[in-house]
Amino acid sequence: MKVTSAEFVISSPGIKLCPEGQEYPEIGFAGRSNVGKSSLINKLVNRKNLARTSKTPGRTQLLNYFLINRAFYIVDFPGYGYAKVPQSVRAGWGKMIEGYLKNRKELSGVVLLLDIRHKPTAQDVQMFDWLQHYEIPTLLVATKADKLSRSQQIKQEKVIRTALGREQEKILLFSSLTGQGKDELLSLLEEIVQP
Ligand code: GTP
Ligand code: MG
Repeated sequence: MKVTSAEFVISSPGIKLCPEGQEYPEIGFAGRSNVGKSSLINKLVNRKNLARTSKTPGRTQLLNYFLINRAFYIVDFPGYGYAKVPQSVRAGWGKMIEGYLKNRKELSGVVLLLDIRHKPTAQDVQMFDWLQHYEIPTLLVATKADKLSRSQQIKQEKVIRTALGREQEKILLFSSLTGQGKDELLSLLEEIVQP
């Protein structure tokens, strides 16, 4: 798939204010704060700053909608797991995301991003479990692949699979710096939105 257009549409605080009526399929992008979600989205759509990237994690508590090729939405989820976010905000986050995963009919799949250098956290595992529970097609992407050598990458892929309890699961390695994994991820997204 070639990305020919990408436009920001809306930031929504929850399922009630998500776009209505157009019935475009949508793909959510989830992951821990600072995992590289915005950088990955920018790389996919060839834009420097469509999805904002920040060095201040935990800022976005909204579902950010980007319309791609006038055909489907990329939805940038708020990052989770940032220590300085108050407990009340975190509880609200969980409710909002779970309500969205459970009830959003347009949701065709979710890309779950995991930092290749780290063992998935309890929240990563919980997000993965929710996706299984609601039977949402899920792609696992290990971000920041450029930060590890090939042998370290292989080791970490195993760490991630084990933490998620899925020894056979495919993990796509991605780097926003080098573009590694970009074409493959775009093909996989195409399969999800044009079944
Ligand atoms: P929040 O929106 O705060 O949840 O973060 P995010 O997941 O959108 O992460 P973001 O894309 O803002 O990236 C966080 C930091 O990681 C930034 O300093 C990026 O430059 C860096 N980063 C992201 N992707 C990569 C990558 O593939 N390689 C390297 N080396 N750095 C990356
Ligand atoms: Mg971001």
